[in-house]
Amino acid sequence: MAADPIHDDVDRVLLDEAQIHDKLTELGRRISADYAENPPILVGVLKGAVMVMADLARRIDLPVEMDWMAVSSYGSGTKSSGVVRILKDLGADITGRHVLIVEDIIDSGLTLKWLLANLRSRGAASVEVCALLRKPEAARVEIDVKYVGFDIPTEFVIGYGLDYAERYRNLPYVGVLKRSVYED
Ligand code: PRP
Repeated sequence: MAADPIHDDVDRVLLDEAQIHDKLTELGRRISADYAENPPILVGVLKGAVMVMADLARRIDLPVEMDWMAVSSYGSGTKSSGVVRILKDLGADITGRHVLIVEDIIDSGLTLKWLLANLRSRGAASVEVCALLRKPEAARVEIDVKYVGFDIPTEFVIGYGLDYAERYRNLPYVGVLKRSVYED
């Protein structure tokens, strides 16, 4: 028996492919202008940032480098605690480098707060953030996010890198998950 199409679990589309790609084109142009003299090293945070990184990087007209980190936040359920463990570290030495962290979403902001402090402590020349999505809760943590795609409401979003139980990352849009999928 064939599995159900993943689209059936989506309550509604929040951001379609065209909206995402238009926004990334705009951000790519800004980043290209801002870093024209100092091409950055893009640091993608696995796994959610894979789609943003792939599409954003192709819209930056500079010889950027790409590297990856994987981190895991200690905490209960879906809430992050702010205590972060590195699962995969950077391959590159970022001393003196201009670093641009690429994220899919800032939810509580705790992961990013920790990452910014960690990367700055390694002697980077600058560390900035580009996130496709930001939820309102992130405002409670003092972090300066230079590039934000969309401020979105507090809903369970999936797709374009974002998962629920490791699924739905491959949806080409950002959607709201049907409650029936995660509630009994
Ligand atoms: C997500 C997202 C951010 C983090 C944001 O990653 O990619 O890294 O949560 O949450 P916060 O602002 O509340 O700290 P997640 O830990 O779900 O891992 P994943 O990218 O592998 O899905």
